[in-house]
Amino acid sequence: MKTADIIILDFGSQYTQLIARRLREQGVYAELLPFDAKLDAIKAKKPKGIILSGGPASVYAKDAYFCDEGIFELGLPILGICYGMQLIAHKFGGSVVPAASKEYGKAEISLACESDLFKDTPKDQVVWMSHADKVEALPSNFKLLAKTKSSEFCAYADEKAKIYALQFHPEVAHSEFGDAILKNFAKFICGCESTWNMGSFAKNECEKIKNLVGKDKILCAVSGGVDSSVVAALLAHAVPKNLIVVFVDNGLLREGEAKQVSDTFKTKLGIDLISIDASKIFLERLSGVIEPEVKRKIIGNTFIEIFEEEAKKHKDVKYLAQGTLYSDVIESSSFGGASKTIKSHHNVGGLPEHMKFKLIEPLREIFKDEVRALGLELGLSRDLVFRHPFPGPGLAIRIMGEVTNERLELLRKADVVLRQELKSSGWYEKTWQAFCVLLNVNSVGVMGDNRTYENAVCVRVVDASDGMTASFSRLPYELLENISRRIINEVNGINRVVYDISSKPPATIEWE
Ligand code: XMP
Repeated sequence: MKTADIIILDFGSQYTQLIARRLREQGVYAELLPFDAKLDAIKAKKPKGIILSGGPASVYAKDAYFCDEGIFELGLPILGICYGMQLIAHKFGGSVVPAASKEYGKAEISLACESDLFKDTPKDQVVWMSHADKVEALPSNFKLLAKTKSSEFCAYADEKAKIYALQFHPEVAHSEFGDAILKNFAKFICGCESTWNMGSFAKNECEKIKNLVGKDKILCAVSGGVDSSVVAALLAHAVPKNLIVVFVDNGLLREGEAKQVSDTFKTKLGIDLISIDASKIFLERLSGVIEPEVKRKIIGNTFIEIFEEEAKKHKDVKYLAQGTLYSDVIESSSFGGASKTIKSHHNVGGLPEHMKFKLIEPLREIFKDEVRALGLELGLSRDLVFRHPFPGPGLAIRIMGEVTNERLELLRKADVVLRQELKSSGWYEKTWQAFCVLLNVNSVGVMGDNRTYENAVCVRVVDASDGMTASFSRLPYELLENISRRIINEVNGINRVVYDISSKPPATIEWE
């Protein structure tokens, strides 16, 4: 079994994997386990330290989540973050109560004393909070390390026992010295060294896959996006003879995409792709469907049906490989079932319960920017690696209301204009993702001297580093004006363009 330097017990925070990622950025290999992992499973990983993540529950609630208390007897350094911090207070006899004023977002903290955890960070610093409960009284043996205006005990520790607790989230980019704090914990307090990198990740994954599959075949579903291309490239390195790569045109793709995908795979990756045109069946099944989660489930199920049909044509196909990322996983379900479902990403929550395949998802625990680094490591072109993400359910979740061929055509045309404008102005590379959403409202306009009553599209362009959080891109007004003018002039049937200025959270990147 692979060991891990730091084990993170996941109590369901949307940010848990970010903790792992921040540590991996320091070269420290960290792995997540569900909050209720058995002590033996934790010990088997031979960790040098344990982190208790945040989570949506309250420690004083009847059905609160607790970890195996044996972890506190292992003599390993422990760091509790948010819910994890409150759990430590609760366990050692402190008191946790609902906070009079909930704290979400930026806060300023002040260090109360010197400590190993805050080593080399300033006395006053900005951190990022997200909590409704607070610690009202510290457990005995613990001393205060830092405080804020409204939540007095925002960091505390029993330094002798090496148990540390933080109310704020050091893993979030908005916590100014969060990286330094996590580094202090991992390297200084736990004694971890920097041995992890993308090359070693690729090597490990290849070994794992080789050992797993033996002589069986793997059907690898690609969409032409970064994630599935990286998976295909990884498998082509690890088990080239076991690999069957399939591309399904679900009729929900962007203009020219189907051809572009098969060309890229043949010419740039040397992978012979089986292309299946299934647009008719997807569109038939989506006919009359409006509810986003129903759309997602129909698409997920139909993909699997088609893969199963294809598998019958080959011998010994046992596995289905997909480019599922951690952000897809966390928003569809959760490690250990502790976090809330936001939407069913088609290659995760949208899968049917009874599926003939076993899944291989080598990217399941990493983020998009890590996937990109892996893609480069595997020799994929920058062009492919830095493509904007495109969701598995495709344009279906960018058409509000019913998906029809006519509406798909409208959206495709608007989308072409948007991408052309972003590319020619140099903004494509500067943004995380850009797309149009076809709204289910008509609006009145005037073209020539005539009244129009036509569709409105919304342009959504966002900045993000992993898709877990995002803010709208501050595009220049002139560029927005060009996009709007060209869409209205060039796409018959659209007479209004609006720009989405919501952040994630509270909105999400896609509209459905
Ligand atoms: P949301 O809309 O959840 O999106 O903020 C976060 C990122 O995930 C992409 N996305 C998906 N990717 N299958 C995918 O492969 C899906 O079902 C799916 N839904 C959203 C989205 O485009 C964004 O980059």
